[in-house]
Amino acid sequence: MLLKSPKGWELPDSAATPENFFHDRRRLAKLIAAGPVLAAMPALLASCEEAPPRTAQLPDPSASLYPVKRNPRYVIDRKLTTEAMATGYNNYYEFGSSKNISAKAQRLSLRPWIVKIDGLVEKPFEIAIDDLLAKMPLEERVYRHRCVEAWSMTVPWSGFALKSLVDLARPLSKARYLKMTSFQDPETAPGQKASWYPWPYVEGLTLAEATNELAFIATGIYGKPMPKQNGAPLRLAVPWKYGFKSTKGIVRFEFTDKRPVSFWEEIQAREYGFWANVNPAVSHPRWSQATERVLGGGGRVPTQIYNGYGEFVADLYDGIKGENLFM
Ligand code: MTE
Repeated sequence: MLLKSPKGWELPDSAATPENFFHDRRRLAKLIAAGPVLAAMPALLASCEEAPPRTAQLPDPSASLYPVKRNPRYVIDRKLTTEAMATGYNNYYEFGSSKNISAKAQRLSLRPWIVKIDGLVEKPFEIAIDDLLAKMPLEERVYRHRCVEAWSMTVPWSGFALKSLVDLARPLSKARYLKMTSFQDPETAPGQKASWYPWPYVEGLTLAEATNELAFIATGIYGKPMPKQNGAPLRLAVPWKYGFKSTKGIVRFEFTDKRPVSFWEEIQAREYGFWANVNPAVSHPRWSQATERVLGGGGRVPTQIYNGYGEFVADLYDGIKGENLFM
């Protein structure tokens, strides 16, 4: 199928969503085969609108941990996105493919939330979220957040350096990658009933990326616990990469010597690769990445290589040959 590539500034978000993988022929064939599921879709999405179960409405027991002290090292020259925008305009396909999933995400129950740390580590273990939070040094970092769909925000994340979790895990020397897996519960998250997506959502980093000082596990925003729609209780924030790498609702950190195939990579590797580093000079196959729309009235601005974080991360990629580092 031949598609006209719109210019970046012509691109409505709806056209840029990763769901455009539907234009891929093999996906389309699978989708047609999934006809009955598709026919059931309005019903599935409607069921998300129901009131959240009682356990999902309990107050967040981590609330007293916030606000945490801002780390002044990560300064950026943009206005903070408003909290209403950052918590009301989300991508979370587990709850549907629109940006307006915040009400639906309230169905997610955050306690108990057990995190598994396993694979190539000295001793695999499981830890309850509140025990993990008690062990981690929490701080606030203001980061740019650049979606592959060519919009951006500036968000004050609270959380901890991913390196602290890697240190807690004690990976073996043969571990080369960290694979992060999101929760799977189709009854709560009806988007997961769509069988053409490779659930659960999985993302991966090299261990060098995971231990880079910028890699952050966010547990809150705007001085409060993380809202469910933004990925509570644990989500990744790797601001030099496109937003789809920053997986939400993480339940497992697995150390491995094999490069994980991530969720969108499995769907359409030509458009959403493993590396996904931001680069204005490398277009998405169907739109330009040269500029981005700053949500909340910030207009359209030039995109920066590594989303402006080259001084921290560019050397991670020295000597890597034959890979598309920017897709
Ligand atoms: N993580 C999961 N589990 N499911 C998702 O659909 N969407 C990704 C990423 N993490 C996604 C996810 C995409 S495409 C983006 S741009 C960011 O989350 C959006 O984060 P935000 O809603 O906090 O802005």
